[in-house]
Amino acid sequence: MKRNLIISALCLLAVVSCKQTVPASVPATIEDGVIVLETPAREPGQTSALGLTCDPIETVRVGFVGVGGRGSSAVRRYTFLDGVEIKAICDLEQSKVDKNIATCTDKGLPAPAAYVGEDSYKQLCERDDIDLVYICTDWLSHVPVAVYAMEHGKHVAIEVPAATTIDECWQLVNTSEKTRRHCMMLENCCYDFFEMASLGMAKAGLFGEVYHVEGAYIHHLSDGWDSSECWRLDFNMANRGDNYPTHGLGPICQVLDIHRGDRMDYLIAMDTPSYNGKVAAKRFRNSDECLDGDHTISLIKTEKQKVIEVQHNVYAYRPYSRMYQLTGDRGFANKYPCEQISIKEFNGHDAVSAAIGDSLKATYLPAFVNEIQDKAREVGGHGGMDYIMDYRLIYCLHNGLPLDEDVYDAAEWSCICELSRISLDNGSMPVKVPDFTRGDWNKTQGFNYALAK
Ligand SMILES: NC(=O)c1ccc[n+]([C@@H]2O[C@H](COP(=O)([O-])OP(=O)(O)OC[C@H]3O[C@@H](n4cnc5c(N)ncnc54)[C@H](O)[C@@H]3O)[C@@H](O)[C@H]2O)c1
Repeated sequence: MKRNLIISALCLLAVVSCKQTVPASVPATIEDGVIVLETPAREPGQTSALGLTCDPIETVRVGFVGVGGRGSSAVRRYTFLDGVEIKAICDLEQSKVDKNIATCTDKGLPAPAAYVGEDSYKQLCERDDIDLVYICTDWLSHVPVAVYAMEHGKHVAIEVPAATTIDECWQLVNTSEKTRRHCMMLENCCYDFFEMASLGMAKAGLFGEVYHVEGAYIHHLSDGWDSSECWRLDFNMANRGDNYPTHGLGPICQVLDIHRGDRMDYLIAMDTPSYNGKVAAKRFRNSDECLDGDHTISLIKTEKQKVIEVQHNVYAYRPYSRMYQLTGDRGFANKYPCEQISIKEFNGHDAVSAAIGDSLKATYLPAFVNEIQDKAREVGGHGGMDYIMDYRLIYCLHNGLPLDEDVYDAAEWSCICELSRISLDNGSMPVKVPDFTRGDWNKTQGFNYALAK
């Protein structure tokens, strides 16, 4: 009896002690060797934003916050879109605001209002003649601006990654669910031609059951480090992990129907030491420390046992690659270094010929792309995909349709930044991926582009 009591007490101690806490932006514990992050409860009145639709907007009135490199390109592209008005431009620097106002007036459009200064985005968001706040600031200010804008009744579009921590991801989800405003992350790589065509092929079953997918952001950025304002180098020096996962992840998550029939279950990450990151830290910041390893790999297992592989390397002397690879039980698609499609019916041993590949791509591109691709290529923005992304966002707002990329995509694709960091800091331990839909990931069946009837 006494012996049994002692054993019970020891077992209890073991259970208590295996529930260690792990530093993370939300409460986290280790359960059975897996790091589990707490899911916050919904507030009263807050409901799911899956398939969120809002009243159609005939003319979408836009305010831009952050008009450096990326924001200026977006303002220029928006001058080519029908059914939009550029109402306001905001930045920390007057000269950038002036330059973007000139982009509009040079095309004969009315001059947007100017907002300059760190908090001036608040005045922009408080205006009652803006429908959409388009955010292209550095990573650390995406979420404060987006939350403030949604709380003031605006839809938001946020550059990538939408958020850098799990806590910020929840802020976006909770605010969108409470305010019933759209929150789209501007993941332009989902709109590149090969990605959209092979998504169409995957949906049509040409590759059979797609069970392994790869994506990456491999881009030698060291020319961009050469600036006292390069906030990205500062961020990478201070943060280990895949700090830019969404270009690789977005298109492959659409293929796997993530939160539309499957979900990311858990992640493990590994990284190399920092080599060129440290060289940049020394050269541009006179620092010996760079926490971001040069190459980071995250492996993610889905609920349906599929495997996702995502890589990040912005330091290596190697050609640009987003990898983008789909493997199914009847076929395969690969984008880098060269496009390859192989399908069992066409002799799955080799890639199909260029002629068959071109014909497949033309057949499986979504029909709406055929209507706008000439203009998209002419306006440009990474070869046209940026314009297609803008076109789809505005089309869905005009027609009161759910967006292609919803707030759960923004959270799921962005949360890999902190999840990879947590796994790395704990010896590559598995980390559960939060279910930002809070149990609804299987309610929608399959990704699709909403179209007006
Ligand atoms: N999707 C893509 O292909 C792509 C490409 C490049 C950059 N990006 C993303 O775009 C965003 C911006 O990157 P960038 O290269 O243009 O950076 P950038 O430094 O050139 O521009 C950021 C701008 O935001 C402004 N800003 C910062 N805080 C602000 C605030 N509180 N209010 C108003 N303005 C503020 C800065 O003054 C600056 O002009 C980042 O999230 C980046 O990851 C995406």
